[in-house]
Amino acid sequence: MDEAKEQGKDLVQLARLALAGRPQDIQTYVTRISRKYQKLSPELGEQLKELMKLAPTRQSPLRSEGVATIPVDRDSRLQLLRHEPGARLEHEPIWTATVAEQLGQIVSEHLRSDELLAKGLAPTRTAIFTGPPGVGKTLAARWLAAQLDRPLLTLDLSAVMSSFLGRTGTNVRHVLDYAKGVTCVLLLDELDAIAKRRDDAQEVGELKRLVTVLLQEVDDWPEGGLLVSASNHPELLDPAVWRRFEMQIEFELPEKDAVQQAIQLFVDDAAALNGSWSAALAEVLCGQSFSDIERELKSLRRQAVLSKCPLADLFPRLIRQHIDGQPKTARKDIALRLAEAGLSQRSVHELTGISRDTLRKLNQADEHPLEQN
Ligand SMILES: Nc1ncnc2c1ncn2[C@@H]1O[C@H](COP(=O)(O)OP(=O)(O)OP(=O)(O)O)[C@@H](O)[C@H]1O
Ligand SMILES: [Mg+2]
Repeated sequence: MDEAKEQGKDLVQLARLALAGRPQDIQTYVTRISRKYQKLSPELGEQLKELMKLAPTRQSPLRSEGVATIPVDRDSRLQLLRHEPGARLEHEPIWTATVAEQLGQIVSEHLRSDELLAKGLAPTRTAIFTGPPGVGKTLAARWLAAQLDRPLLTLDLSAVMSSFLGRTGTNVRHVLDYAKGVTCVLLLDELDAIAKRRDDAQEVGELKRLVTVLLQEVDDWPEGGLLVSASNHPELLDPAVWRRFEMQIEFELPEKDAVQQAIQLFVDDAAALNGSWSAALAEVLCGQSFSDIERELKSLRRQAVLSKCPLADLFPRLIRQHIDGQPKTARKDIALRLAEAGLSQRSVHELTGISRDTLRKLNQADEHPLEQN
């Protein structure tokens, strides 16, 4: 009983310090109570001790000067870095086998770095993620931070670049110096923003200097650290830039089975997806990014709630939105695929306007292509 009382008291005190934004005091407090709980409740004490090991060290800016020292732009005073202390994911990401393997390798290398160090090797320090928008590049950085139980620090280069360019180099250097002192995952997001900004001759000089700063940092990133960078226009980047990264991971638009997984994830209602809906929706959503699929399905869920109708009643509308306005050949193709996905010929006709007769013929032609010639 006493123990519960103690814990309650500590919880309130921690909440008070957290709400007052006093990270250093929280650290001191946690160190103190972790010693107390070693005796009172050894398991809890051990957990707190482990947490403190991951907390910023004495040398790091977080510890010595508090969170307020996150670098800021000199004039605007806006923070240059986004700091996510406990990176959390709303849902498990969907990775292709290759991406899962590469990301998994980074995690294992860092979690088991002592085994590598014993053989004179160091875990991967730098990686670059490329791919179209909305396929999980930023998400992957957050996922890595969560797996490694490190804070995620994000420098959005497109935001930094939009301020007065002359200061960008200094700002970036500040940010990188800061990030080096903290055990974290540093994400340089939208790396291609540098390449996009080539407006005038003076800027070209500035940009060259900026690229030089970045390349040096990527080369010299400290052992044990993890710097990841994301870009959806790798072709805009000087090959010298992305070759510097130790690992390159390509993210792609989801294939059909990943689209189906995404549908299940974002609809989050197995009953609604009963029957052939999951496969049928995948036929029209295939070709889109995960974030577009998420947006469409969440919007549909909101509509279902507000109109108090079962979600499945709205699936035909979503499918029709993707079909309307398409030329007849495309509609025929979708009709065939929807039928293959398991929708009845009647539903397919209602959704696509393709007659059941045509559908039967298309089906036969698809099943026996040679007989048609
Ligand atoms: N592989 C994935 N698995 C599950 N959800 C995903 C995946 N990729 C993207 N999403 C969803 O889409 C959202 C946006 O993805 P994210 O920000 O990672 O895209 P991005 O590749 O960084 O795009 P951009 O190039 O525009 O920055 C995520 O928060 C997540 O909800
Ligand atoms: Mg992103």
